[in-house]
Amino acid sequence: MQRTFDVSAVREQFPALDRLHDGRPVVYFDGPGGSQVARPAIEAMRGYMERGGANLHGAFPTSIETEEIIASTRHAMAAFIGAEPDEIAFGANMTTLTFAISRALARGWDENSEIVVTELDHRANVDPWVLAATEKGAKTRWLPVDPETLTLDLSNLEATIDESTKLVAVGLASNAVGTINPVARIAERAREAGALVAVDAVHAAPHIPMNRDALGADILTCSAYKFFGPHVGVTAIRRGLLEELPVYRLDPAPAYIPDKLETGTQNHEGIAGVKGALDFIASLSGGDSPHERLLSAMRTIEEYEDVLAARFRAGLRDIPGVTLYAAPEGVRKTPTVAFRLEGRSPGEVCEHLAGRGYFAAGGDFYASTLAGKLGIRDDGGWVRAGLAPYNTEEEVDGFVEALEMLADGGRAAR
Ligand SMILES: Cc1ncc(COP(=O)(O)O)c(C=O)c1O
Repeated sequence: MQRTFDVSAVREQFPALDRLHDGRPVVYFDGPGGSQVARPAIEAMRGYMERGGANLHGAFPTSIETEEIIASTRHAMAAFIGAEPDEIAFGANMTTLTFAISRALARGWDENSEIVVTELDHRANVDPWVLAATEKGAKTRWLPVDPETLTLDLSNLEATIDESTKLVAVGLASNAVGTINPVARIAERAREAGALVAVDAVHAAPHIPMNRDALGADILTCSAYKFFGPHVGVTAIRRGLLEELPVYRLDPAPAYIPDKLETGTQNHEGIAGVKGALDFIASLSGGDSPHERLLSAMRTIEEYEDVLAARFRAGLRDIPGVTLYAAPEGVRKTPTVAFRLEGRSPGEVCEHLAGRGYFAAGGDFYASTLAGKLGIRDDGGWVRAGLAPYNTEEEVDGFVEALEMLADGGRAAR
């Protein structure tokens, strides 16, 4: 059952929307850098700490409850992405988890091994793999991005991924320009070649429904602070692979899955908050199974955000001096919009917008390979304005107006 999207009800779930900046309501367009946190996530974290926390493996209630909370978050995360609870491991963030996984996997690589990364990805899904490969004398190959269409150029896919390829690392969506990649197609080629697929779902997770198996991901990693939760990283690793993975682990620490990947004491209150964030998402729709319910909720979010993003992109396109960096019509995208304004650095644009209550960030957002290829990396990168389900049409129109003022002012001054 899909429900209509009630943005006012959604907004009530985000206490940070009450914030004022210089007397104006704050408009958060910085979701791709980290969304605001939903009330159920905040309450779950507060509840955990107020009731009394503990470490694991104790025979007393706070320890037992902590284990129950972690188990229930593993279930919810598994339902979110279509994996199994014992395939879900937590960590500090996506980058730290990816460093740990890459170092473990690379123990089986040598000079005859190759890995494939992309020019469109956030460097967190590039550098950990490249560094681990380089240490083993393995070679890195790159899937190029087409700078005109801002999509991956797959014309050479068959030749790039071959029997030497051990791993293909690809993002589900670009955190800079929003392009959603044809991950299933890339994964199919990887599977033919016998390579593993690591999917960076950090940017995609708050915007589109995901199913790990449909994507063909062996490893899928995301970060709850992008999907209305706290700063906790999450990975799903296919059971057989996780069982075999020679992780770096302390001798007395658990050797069983998924705990073997979770070095040290985890962020228990944060993990409680992840479950709260998923409860918030699940509340937006219905469905027969927990996975169906979350898929349906994410479909509802995607539909709402698509309409808002189309309005936003159209408004920005009409402003003289604005260059929009977006894949063409027909390419599926997240509602993340990257642009530049002629005659102004991204930093200046963001400052102007912040003065009017619109919070958006400038930079390369670690999509630095793409920024370099487009020739803007050393020139401040982009302004990135990303929509979230708590944003409204009025906010989009207000953002466009605030930018128009700066564009007009710039022209009048010349
Ligand atoms: C697409 C993408 N991948 C990876 C990361 C890194 O995530 P984390 O901050 O959890 O390490 C980010 C963070 O912005 C991102 O947007």
